[in-house]
Amino acid sequence: MYFGADYYPEEWPRERWGYDARLMAEAGFNVVRLAELAWALMEPEPDRYDFGWLDEVIALLYRHGISTVLGTPTTAAPAWMLDLDPEVTTVGEDGVRTAYGYWANYCITSPILRERTRRIVEAMAAHYRDNPAVIAWQVDNEFGVMGRARCYCDRCQEAFRRWLQRRYGSLEALHSAWGASFWSHLYTDWAQIPIPRRTVGHHNPGLVLDYARFCADRTAGYQQLHVDILRREAPGQLLTHNFLGGHFTQLDNFQMGRALDIMGWDNYLEPPQYQAAALSHDCIRGAKGRNFWVLEQQCSHKFWAPHSQLPAGAARLMSLQGVAHGADAIIYFRWRAGLIGAEQFHDGILPHDGRPGRVYEEIKGLGQELKQLSAALSDTTPRAEVAFILSYESLWALENQPHHADLGHPWRYADRIYSELLARHIPVDFVAPEGDLSRYKLVIAPALFVLRPETVANLTRFVEGGGFLLVTVRTGQKDEHNRVVDIPFPGLLAGLCGATVREFDSRPAGQAVRVRVEDAWGGDEASADTWLELIEPEAGTEVVARYEEGLYAGRAAATWRAAGRGGALYLGALGPVTAPIVGWLLEHAGVRPPVAVDAPAPVEVAVREGEGRKIIFVLNYSPEVQTARLGFAARELLAGSEVAGDLTLPPYGVRVLQAI
Ligand code: GAL
Repeated sequence: MYFGADYYPEEWPRERWGYDARLMAEAGFNVVRLAELAWALMEPEPDRYDFGWLDEVIALLYRHGISTVLGTPTTAAPAWMLDLDPEVTTVGEDGVRTAYGYWANYCITSPILRERTRRIVEAMAAHYRDNPAVIAWQVDNEFGVMGRARCYCDRCQEAFRRWLQRRYGSLEALHSAWGASFWSHLYTDWAQIPIPRRTVGHHNPGLVLDYARFCADRTAGYQQLHVDILRREAPGQLLTHNFLGGHFTQLDNFQMGRALDIMGWDNYLEPPQYQAAALSHDCIRGAKGRNFWVLEQQCSHKFWAPHSQLPAGAARLMSLQGVAHGADAIIYFRWRAGLIGAEQFHDGILPHDGRPGRVYEEIKGLGQELKQLSAALSDTTPRAEVAFILSYESLWALENQPHHADLGHPWRYADRIYSELLARHIPVDFVAPEGDLSRYKLVIAPALFVLRPETVANLTRFVEGGGFLLVTVRTGQKDEHNRVVDIPFPGLLAGLCGATVREFDSRPAGQAVRVRVEDAWGGDEASADTWLELIEPEAGTEVVARYEEGLYAGRAAATWRAAGRGGALYLGALGPVTAPIVGWLLEHAGVRPPVAVDAPAPVEVAVREGEGRKIIFVLNYSPEVQTARLGFAARELLAGSEVAGDLTLPPYGVRVLQAI
C-alpha cells in the first residue's frame, strides 16, 4: 500500500525540504508525486534541462523512505511554447481560442507541443530510468480536464478529416454512414467537413459520434507518445495516470487503461457524494480489471468549490472508501497550502504556515492504520458477481441526444441501479461491451443506446450460459454510425429479451405514474418517471410489471424472458420501480452481499477479498452516529477487539473487520 502526498518542493525554500521529509516519514508516507506541473523549471528554455533541484529532493525524500511517482509535466507548458507555436492553446466549441494563463489548455494536436513532449519525456526518462527512488511515472495530468479532450481548433479539424478519411475511405461511404443527405450535408471534398463547433442547431449525429471517437483516439494517441518513450527508455518503472472520475465520459477508460500498468484517478468527491465516489472507484478499477491508485485525494477544503470544509474524519473516511474499493495507493492533494499561485486557498495536509495541525494528525493516524492493515490487505481486491456494461460510444451518443432535460448526463440511466446495489452492499464491476462476462451472475446493460452485433453475441452467450441480464430503456436504438435502427427497439436485443418497445414517453419531472409489479415478482406497488416505454411481450415472455395509470395503463413496463437457467429482464421505465426489479434479479440470480451486515444508508459495507479472507470496511458517511448489525463474529483489525451483533460507527467513522 502506497501512502503519501502531492508535493511541490519548487514552492518552498530548500531549507524546508528536510523538515517536510521528516514530517512525511512520521506520517507513514512511503511515496510522493512530484513535478507534474513543473515543465518550465525542468526546461527553462527550449532544450536546456535542469533536473538538479528535482534530483536533490528525490534523493532527500528517498533517504526518508519515500519513493517518487514522477509526473511528465506536459499539461503545463512553459510560456516559451507560445513563441514556438502561437496557436498551441485549445479552442472551445464556440470557436474561440482559450487564452494563455492557466494550465491544461494546450492542444495535443499541435505538432510543436508533440515534438516538445517527446523531447522532455525522453530527457526525463534518460535521466531517471535507473533511479531506484522513481517507482512510477504519471503520464501527463488529468487527461481531458478543462475541455482538453475536445478541442475545436483548425488543426484538430484537419486531423479529424484525416481520421475520417482513414475510417471511411470515400465520401460516399461517409455519406451513407452518416445519412448525410439530410439537410444537404453532402460533401464534395473532405476539406468541407466541419468539426462540430457550435452552430445554430444540431450537427449530424454520425458526425458528432465520430468526433467523440476521434477525440478519445487523439488523447489515447498522445498518451501513447509518452508510453512508447517510457517503455523503451525506462522499462523498469510503472506507468499510471490520474484520470478524472467515473462520471467523466469524454475518454474511453478501457482504451486508456490498456497502455498503462495501473489506473489512477483524482478524488474530490466529499462524503455526501459517496455514491458517486464509489462508482468512480469501481469504474477506474474496471478499466483494467484490477486495483488502482488515487493520485490526488482531497484532504481538506478545495479552492474551486462554492464552499468546502471537510469535517473531522472525512479525509480518513474518503481514503478508506478508496482502499475498500481497491485503491492500493492514497496520495493526497496537496502536502501544504500554497503561499503563491492561483490555488492559494486550496488547503493541504499542512496549512499555509506549515505547522502540523488537525488535518496532519488525521492523515498521520491513517498512515499508522494502513500499516496495521497492510498484511491483511495484500493481494486482496473487491470480488463482484454483478457487472455493469460500460459503453462509451453509447454515453457519447446519449449525451448528444438526451431527449429529456433530466437525462443530460448519460450516467443518469445507470446511477439509480448502481445506488440500489450499493445500498444492498453488493459489489459491482464495470466491463467493456465485449468484455469477459463468464464470472458474473448478473449483468446490467444500462441504456446500450449504440448496440453492436458483437455486444449482442456477448450478452447472448452470457444469458445462454445461465446468466441473468437486465436491459434498460433506450437500448438498441442506434447502430454504430448513430443511425436509428429500422427494427423495433431494443433492436438487436429484442430476440434475447423476447419483447419490443412500441412507444416511449419522455415525461416532465413530477409526472410519475403508478406501476405494479406482478405478484409472482413480489407484488410491489412502485412508480416510474422520466422515461417510460410501452413494452410488447412476445409469446413465451412474462410480464413483470404493468403501468397502472396514464396512456400505457394496463400495459407492460417490464418483461422477463427465461433462457435455460438464466434470462433477460427488460425494464422499460426509470424511477423507483428499479428497486423491486433489482431486488428480484439479485434474489433469483443468487447474488448475495459478500458479508451479512445490516446497515442502512448512508452506511456502506465494502469488502476486499483474498486467499481465504475477507476484509470488511463499514463506512459511515453521515454526521450522526450509526449502528450496523453484524450477522457474524469478527475481529476489528484496527482496535484488535472482537465484535458481534451491533457495531457502532461514530460520525464519519470507519470500522475495518475480518470475520472469525
Ligand atoms: C486537479 C489538478 C491539481 C489541482 C487540483 C485542485 O485538477 O490536477 O493540480 O489543480 O485539481 O483541486
